[in-house]
Amino acid sequence: MSADSFRSAPLGAAPIDPATLPRHIAVIMDGNGRWARQQGLERVAGHEEGAKSVRTVVRAARALGVRALTLFAFSEQNWGRPPLEVEALMRLLYRYVLEEHNEIMDNDIRLFAIGDLHRLPTFARVALKALMKLSAGNKSMTLCLALSYGGREDVVLAARALAEDVAAGRLAPEDIDETLFESRLSTGEMPPVDLMIRTSGEQRLSNFLLWQAAYAELFFTDEMWPDFRKPQLLEAIAAYQQRERRFGRTSAQLSDGES
Ligand code: IPE
Ligand code: IPE
Ligand code: MG
Repeated sequence: MSADSFRSAPLGAAPIDPATLPRHIAVIMDGNGRWARQQGLERVAGHEEGAKSVRTVVRAARALGVRALTLFAFSEQNWGRPPLEVEALMRLLYRYVLEEHNEIMDNDIRLFAIGDLHRLPTFARVALKALMKLSAGNKSMTLCLALSYGGREDVVLAARALAEDVAAGRLAPEDIDETLFESRLSTGEMPPVDLMIRTSGEQRLSNFLLWQAAYAELFFTDEMWPDFRKPQLLEAIAAYQQRERRFGRTSAQLSDGES
């Protein structure tokens, strides 16, 4: 038995209740660089291996029946990385979109993207937008890639759009409520995040989905993203299903069904 299958066997056995799956899972895919360093490889090799985790996790989530999966692939702040690494990540994005075309279409997955897509290089943006358009009518799962994304930026843009509507007389300030505000965020119609996963042992949000994850259950694992595959996803979902989501109420209220 390889070290990998030895480790994944007990995790893969985690029981999942299909009735209480998280509707929306968001993942901060972190640790590619450290994974590569541990293997004596260049950082880019970690990103390449990480792309394999993306494939596996998307496939597993779709098979389980998760409705929405948002992956933090590149943050607004990641533009500050060395130009060669940024370039490699953009080429990987391009390759991913081309290579996953059939997987996405055959599995009825809607590809969606959030973030400042205008900052992406044209070759990557064109390929991404084409597959987004082609898959727009797919219904089984939304795969949302966060690219050049920042949570604060998302909130500011929503606020600005509402302010423009008010200034133009299309909207009264008192009509702005949480539902309307949420509908102006880049995630639009996607359900709120139920489960937020971060790999690599870091325990922070790094400006990801700040509003959308307001009541998310957080799952942190020491596993680096290239090592995060189906068994680890099942483990995260099983942990989520053990949590009691109280939304401000008491445990007794939930178990008694009191209102
Ligand atoms: C996550 O891995 C991928 C991106 C942020 C694009 P990192 O590249 O951040 O890996 P570490 O954190 O340096 O190990
Ligand atoms: C967060 O990872 C962004 C992505 C996973 C794309 P980082 O590695 O950039 O986060 P920080 O800078 O360590 O918080
Ligand atoms: Mg990192």
